[in-house]
Parts: sequence; structure tokens; C-alpha cells
Amino acid sequence: MGEAKRIDGKAFAAALRGRLAVAAGDLKDRHDLTPGLAVVLVGDDPASQVYVRNKVAQCAEVGMESLEYRRPADISQGDLLTLVEGLNDRRDVHGILVQLPLPDQIDPAAVLAAIDPAKDVDGFHVINAGRLATGQDSLVPCTPAGCMLLIKDTLGGGLSGLDAVVVGRSNIVGKPMAQLLLRENCTVTVAHSRTRDLPAVCRRADILVAAVGRPHMIGADFVKPGATVIDVGINRVAAPDKGPGKTRLVGDVDYAAARPVAGAITPVPGGVGPMTIACLLRNTVIAACRQAGVAPPDV
Ligand code: GUN
Repeated sequence: MGEAKRIDGKAFAAALRGRLAVAAGDLKDRHDLTPGLAVVLVGDDPASQVYVRNKVAQCAEVGMESLEYRRPADISQGDLLTLVEGLNDRRDVHGILVQLPLPDQIDPAAVLAAIDPAKDVDGFHVINAGRLATGQDSLVPCTPAGCMLLIKDTLGGGLSGLDAVVVGRSNIVGKPMAQLLLRENCTVTVAHSRTRDLPAVCRRADILVAAVGRPHMIGADFVKPGATVIDVGINRVAAPDKGPGKTRLVGDVDYAAARPVAGAITPVPGGVGPMTIACLLRNTVIAACRQAGVAPPDV
């Protein structure tokens, strides 16, 4: 058996940002439109701060506006809802993202429901989930959208009739991923922690998407020879080989074990991760175009 193709999400995301920068320049020149993203960060969770910093920096890189709203961890739900409603009303804000997780006193569902679905660039609002499930235009959650771009690039768009298995049933990744694969005429199985004989189910997959959040759970015995394997997991684990107290990021897939069996596989880091923010920028451009009555660019 040979080595699988390594799917380079980092390079794909950089190329996508390049296309988005061209599209943003064109919107500015032809329509005087600058897509604007508002990012709301509550509290001081270090991982969330890193995500938000990256989102803001990448907006600037492609020529989009970003507005950052930092609020203390003890903000009331009412004050947070008032902030979101104010952003809904602003014409220069085309996308709104409230960074998750939120502190315990706040019901995330209530906050997500308050975002104008037209500005819901995370694609988490029930209106967008329902539109995706019923085949209507929607804003698609960024991580599954990024996975789909990588899958289509790897398989050349010919997904019809392939067996796809998604491991994980979250609203943010697993369920929308299944909808996107179904839209491409795949035969889709959504597997999860209660699935019986998970390795056997996964071995049926021509396309295997792992989104469970358990480091190295998917080994070689889960992979059909030649399959396309997409690893959504980003798990921080101890790395004693790097020194005391050191850590590294690993996926849900045991990359070293799965690579000799797979046909193509995403690494962690450098696979799906960089695609998520690039797709957030893409959603913001799409949202801005729809709000301005302009045809969205094909990027
Ligand atoms: N926290 C971690 N990832 C995400 C994301 O994609 N969107 C939001 N809103 N919060 C997150």
C-alpha cells in the first residue's frame, strides 16, 4: 500500500483568502461595499482569545472590516442580547459572530436565536439550519463548509453515490456536514458514541469525516483502503517527548496509522482548522452581498 495524499488545508485556505481579497476589492470598487464582521467575545478564555485574534487579523488581510466587542464574563444575558440587537440594526455590520463557549449565566441558544439569520455567519441559527436541511440558500457553518471544499477538491466533485460516514452528531459540525454530503448525493451515515461496531461502520466509508473530539480514536482499522479521511478534531495532548509540561495538537484520527490505508487524509494541524476561518470570511462576503442586493462572488 502506498501513502495517502496529504490534503493541505493551510495552502487551500491561503488560496481561498487570496480569492476573497480579490472579491472584496471588486465589491469596494464596483459597489462601494466593504464586508464587515462583528465578533463578540465574552470573558477571558485563552483559547477564545486566540480564535478571535486570528479572525480579526484575517479580516484585515483580505480587506474586510472587523469590529471586536469584548465584554466581561459576568455580563447579563439581557445586556448581551441588547448588544446583538444593536449589531443587527447596523448597516455596516454584515456578519455577527458570538464566540462560544459562553459563561454559565447565559443561554447560548437564546443568544444565537437573537442574531439576524441574514447576518449569522456561523450558520448556527435554527433558520439557517432549517434552510440547509431543506435545500434553500443559507449561511452554512464554517467547519463543515471548509471540509466540503477540501473533499470536492480531493475528489474532483464526483461525490454522487459515494458512501460517507460522519462520526459525531453536533449541531456545529456533524449534522450540517451530513446535510452537505447528502446535498452532493452521497449515501450518508451519521455515527456517534452509541453506534455499534464503529470500526465496521467507518470501514464502509469512501469519505470518512471524524468530528468526535477524542484524540487518535480513529485508527487504521476504521479506514477503507483508498478512502478520503477528513479529521475535524483539534485535541491538545501531553507531549513528554518535547519536554516536561509540553503539549501538541492531535486530531481524532491516528494520522500515522491511517495514512498508509487512506487515499487522501487531512493532517492536524494544517488540515481542516485553517479552512474554518477562511470560510467565516467567505460567509461574511456572501452575507454582505445578499444584504446589498449584489450577486455573491463564486469563491
Ligand atoms: N468557538 C470555537 N469555534 C467556534 C466557532 O466556529 N464559532 C463560534 N461562534 N464560536 C466558536
